[in-house]
Amino acid sequence: MIRRNSVYRLVIFIVIIVLCLASLAACDGPSGTAEPQDRIVLGFAQLGDESEWRSSSSADIISAASQADIQLMFENAQQKQANQIKAIRSFILKRVDVIAFSPIVEEGWDNVLLEAKAADIPVILVDRYIQTDEKDLYCAFIGSDFKWEGEQAGLWIMKKFLDDEGPVRVAEISGTENSSPTIGRYDGLREAFGDGSKFEIVISVPGDFMRSKGRECMEQILEETPDIDVLYAHNDDMAMGAIEIMEENGIKPGEDIVIVSVDAQRSGLNALKQGKINCLVECSPYVGTNLMNLTLKVSNGETFPKTTFTREQVYTETDDFDTLPVRPYG
Ligand code: AHR
Repeated sequence: MIRRNSVYRLVIFIVIIVLCLASLAACDGPSGTAEPQDRIVLGFAQLGDESEWRSSSSADIISAASQADIQLMFENAQQKQANQIKAIRSFILKRVDVIAFSPIVEEGWDNVLLEAKAADIPVILVDRYIQTDEKDLYCAFIGSDFKWEGEQAGLWIMKKFLDDEGPVRVAEISGTENSSPTIGRYDGLREAFGDGSKFEIVISVPGDFMRSKGRECMEQILEETPDIDVLYAHNDDMAMGAIEIMEENGIKPGEDIVIVSVDAQRSGLNALKQGKINCLVECSPYVGTNLMNLTLKVSNGETFPKTTFTREQVYTETDDFDTLPVRPYG
């Protein structure tokens, strides 16, 4: 009888062990697929959805993370700095391996980035810079040289009006106030023109990088300073909005008013082909693969560059349009 009892207990013990092992296997992931424990987790706080460029940037980062087998936590801040700060705080609480974000404006990040630093989570800036007096709030930057972009726009305008006596009257639709691309593109244009040149920036209005605001800005420009030779828009979306208003007012974009814009996304490239935009300075949103490589290096303790600028170029009305790039998103 005693012997029979202990065999019985042994069988029950084995059954319990088998059931435990089976339930552990079933807990691997929500979809039932095994989630390897050593997958790197990247928290990315995107600034919003204001432009074609931004949608391409989000799509590129999501696709690059899946290709690199990095677990991505993606938050969209809907153009609000407070939302971006909230997203970064949630990444800190979740103890992600690396935080990356595209700062909507340059100032106001010290507190949250000091919190990330205290939690020992490395931060990568993507696309835009920050201003701070604190040390080591971020470990790397990857994105564009916005001042270079503004200079390229200015140099092209100068070439276009080389034989014109002047004054050449330029209207500017700038991007989000206090953001890096706006600051760089604003300064770059002025530096290219230099002091006392025949180029006069007669009006500059902020359009927040949005097509709808580009329309509003162009309406304001036509009301306040209708006599302009050039429109310089800080992105394609605002240029497209301005083009709509020009056409509604019987103005031929690209002919009556020379148009220079930044980004060279799908809509801008199409407008260049149609002769409605004369020059496009490229700003590349395709940093996803570089960002994932950087994330791996940072979390594996390897060496990495502090600053990586994306390679960009200028497309103009005199290019062979068959050689223009084809954009994967948009
Ligand atoms: O920071 C990059 C800029 O932001 C792009 O030029 C613009 O289209 C976007 O919204």
